[in-house]
Amino acid sequence: MRVQRTLPPSAAPIEWRDLVEGLVGLVRPQVTMDRLQAEFRAHFGVKHVWFVSSGKAALTLILRALHKLSTRRQVVVPGYTCFSVPSAVVRAGLSVRLCDMNPETLDFDGRHLEEVADSDALCVLATHLLGVGVDVPRVAEICRPRGIFVVEDVAQGFGGERDGKRFGTMGDVSFLSFGRGKNITCGSGGAILTNDDRIGEALAQEYAQLPDESLAGRLINWLEVAATQLLIHPSRYWFPAGLPFLKLGDTKFYTDFPLTRMDSVRAGLLRRWHTRLSRSTASRMAHANDLRRSISSHCQTVRSGQGQAVYLRFPLLMRSRKEKDALCRMSAEQGLGISSMYPSAVGQIAELSAALASEHAPQSMTIAERLVTLPTHELLSDPDLGRLCAAVESIQRDQGLDMDSSREALGAQGRPPAMPRAH
Ligand SMILES: Cc1ncc(COP(=O)(O)O)c(C=O)c1O
Repeated sequence: MRVQRTLPPSAAPIEWRDLVEGLVGLVRPQVTMDRLQAEFRAHFGVKHVWFVSSGKAALTLILRALHKLSTRRQVVVPGYTCFSVPSAVVRAGLSVRLCDMNPETLDFDGRHLEEVADSDALCVLATHLLGVGVDVPRVAEICRPRGIFVVEDVAQGFGGERDGKRFGTMGDVSFLSFGRGKNITCGSGGAILTNDDRIGEALAQEYAQLPDESLAGRLINWLEVAATQLLIHPSRYWFPAGLPFLKLGDTKFYTDFPLTRMDSVRAGLLRRWHTRLSRSTASRMAHANDLRRSISSHCQTVRSGQGQAVYLRFPLLMRSRKEKDALCRMSAEQGLGISSMYPSAVGQIAELSAALASEHAPQSMTIAERLVTLPTHELLSDPDLGRLCAAVESIQRDQGLDMDSSREALGAQGRPPAMPRAH
């Protein structure tokens, strides 16, 4: 365990008054839930909103509801995404179908989407990975004439906009996550949004069958949020980061996650969501801009579309797995919060690899091999940003020298593949 300033890879700080609001939610459940629901309806301009126990619970419910409206069973997901996504597909009793991605944008590979969006596809999950922003209208243009629903995965993109439209308002139905590493948090939680009455009715039936969270569950979550609030600060984060049994940042595929309604303590913890979201979005965007300015001259950054990408984290494609591993090692030594994200592409998840053996998503595997993310959250200081840029630069320089010398030894055969231009 190294006692040093340690940046969490992602952080959504909450204040003591948010914890108090959580307790107010316990004693005034109806008012708290109704107010949150009304605020989300107004913010997104949608008719139907439900709050549940997590983003994956929200996705499971959505998929069950869509399957009520169609006999199709395949759910098209990005080849590289959070393992919770295929977990929810399996929990809903449906099959995963992979669509490859463009490493330059983290959006779908358009040509592959045309192929996989066939008559077996129930829906396509347009995912705002890292808050960068996918082109949902383009996905809808391909899907709608073919009778395929567009589900917007806004788990990492709350606060983002594209062409003047908020993320979460462009698909047929969408969901958010309020998990610990997200744009704002209440410990764990999720929301479902839709303007479509047919989907809304099917969702209402599914939601009616969900149990409530137990009182113990509500209080344990509140205590965990309080502990996180204490330890998330970079001056104290070395402590939880040094406890391996906490498994911070671990990504697992599992299907036995809780499927309950959101309780009023969590809703209370979100009472000041609007203020917190505005603050978080502003600092994430500013930090992402700083990082892009300093890094893009010597490294490949990811291009976002028109509008407000929120950058839950700042994505960077390194030139090789070796370079990525070297940067992550340096980060662990210096407490920089640079993350290697998900351990593999979806097609390589052990529990799914047999079922997905015939699926082909090579660019998603490249993303898994080379993507790192830098923290963008509001707890970063200017010197932290300087340390992040210096680390990336020094790894690029050292590995670049390495590449040069192995090129000399191998001749033209050893030339690394040409990198797309930095943006
Ligand atoms: C892209 C994406 N979708 C869905 C989820 C599921 O959200 P939750 O963790 O709230 O279940 C996550 C969570 O990390 C995610 O990153």
